[in-house]
Amino acid sequence: MTILVTGARGTVAQAVVAGLHSAGVPVRAASARPAELTVPAGVDTAELGLDRPETFAPALRGVRRVFLYPEPAGIEEFVRAAEAAGVEHVVLLSSSTVTRPGAEDDPLARQSLTVERALAASGLAWTFLRPDAFTVNALAWAHALTRSLPVQLPFPDAQVASIHPRDIADVAVAALTGDSLTGRAVTLTGPESLAFREQLAVIAEVTGRPVTVQEISRAEAEQQMAAHMPAGYVASLLDLWEAACDGPADLADTTATLLGRPARTFRQWVEENSDAFAPAPEQPEPKPMPIGYWLRRADKALTDAMDALLAGHGLTRLGWQVLNVVADEAPVTDARVLEVMAVHADAPTLTAVVEKALAAGWLTRPAPGQLALTGDGRTRLAEVLARVGAFRERAAAGVSPEEYRTTMRVLERLTANAESAGAESATP
Ligand SMILES: NC(=O)c1ccc[n+]([C@@H]2O[C@H](COP(=O)([O-])OP(=O)(O)OC[C@H]3O[C@@H](n4cnc5c(N)ncnc54)[C@H](OP(=O)(O)O)[C@@H]3O)[C@@H](O)[C@H]2O)c1
Repeated sequence: MTILVTGARGTVAQAVVAGLHSAGVPVRAASARPAELTVPAGVDTAELGLDRPETFAPALRGVRRVFLYPEPAGIEEFVRAAEAAGVEHVVLLSSSTVTRPGAEDDPLARQSLTVERALAASGLAWTFLRPDAFTVNALAWAHALTRSLPVQLPFPDAQVASIHPRDIADVAVAALTGDSLTGRAVTLTGPESLAFREQLAVIAEVTGRPVTVQEISRAEAEQQMAAHMPAGYVASLLDLWEAACDGPADLADTTATLLGRPARTFRQWVEENSDAFAPAPEQPEPKPMPIGYWLRRADKALTDAMDALLAGHGLTRLGWQVLNVVADEAPVTDARVLEVMAVHADAPTLTAVVEKALAAGWLTRPAPGQLALTGDGRTRLAEVLARVGAFRERAAAGVSPEEYRTTMRVLERLTANAESAGAESATP
């Protein structure tokens, strides 16, 4: 009986794979990017993007039980493929947010709720694991702590009963290998309620380094958080923390109540992960990667939008990337353009692209063997940037967190490069 673990690069999934493997259960670790997986020797791997139904059938072959991350995008197709493959039981990594009043309209809760409902309506047996805050959320403070900066919090007295990911995984392994949790929705927490301020005090004690907490306004927090997540998620999280200042967090099921063994504490998680909070070694500023690197990492929505726009200008994506390399470093030599772009195409192809951009008047030669953008070339860049900027609005309306994060990174690089290209062009 093979058990499929989806999202296998995830923190919880990694612990589920390890737990099943050490229990001697045949396990297949499935990820959207299987090449990046680290799994114990002997564990089978497969490609599975939960929003890519074409990957479902091969990954599900011979599978009877599944550990599932809550991706609503392809859930109807996933249920059908699982039923067709003979899957009997799905254990879902849901969230305690689904039990809160107004969950229907809460962007944080909605994705887990949608997946729970699809499973409940299916012919598959299910278990819903509904964890509260994870201990790993404390990694959000690592940036400040490793640089000895104050940790800025809008609600430092919000209380959480953070759960260790391995405790979630232990319960998942029990649900996947037995029947005691079949048909049950269990809310999972850690064993103790601690305010964020108290969690930081634990980190200070374990690391032996002082921690300063700086209270900031809700508006300031909104602005900071908007750089990392959609606006709907920001508002929802801030509401959650504000409400959590009222008193201790409720304690629900833990490994102690479900499995009869002590739940791991927040301190234990910090002791295991104290390296993450160690002072950052002094490092020279890394040389910024050329923009072509970021374009390769852009999500599909973004690249589709770009392709459409570029086609309107008679430009391929390769041509657009060449323009960006020039914008990055202008004036730049032909040889440097060929070097940076070598991963994309051979020298004759690139030379032809450069010639075409010169003929179209988007590139110019400020000196023999050198390339720079013309005003028209810069306009092309600005037009594509405007199109990319429109993605922000769509992101605010709600896209997947991964799509959002990737795109925000791309946007930051695009904006930085456009600004530096502008500054260079203003230099006499
Ligand atoms: N944090 C909380 O407080 C909290 C509370 C309740 C519920 N939850 C739920 O728990 C889930 C997150 O669980 P988690 O912490 O185990 O997930 P995670 O580590 O954030 O990973 C989530 C998924 O992202 C993908 N991924 C993409 N790039 C990755 C990378 N570089 N490294 C690792 N994974 C990467 C992985 O799927 P692939 O391998 O297929 O790409 C992975 O399963 C969410 O669904 C959330 O709603 C979280």
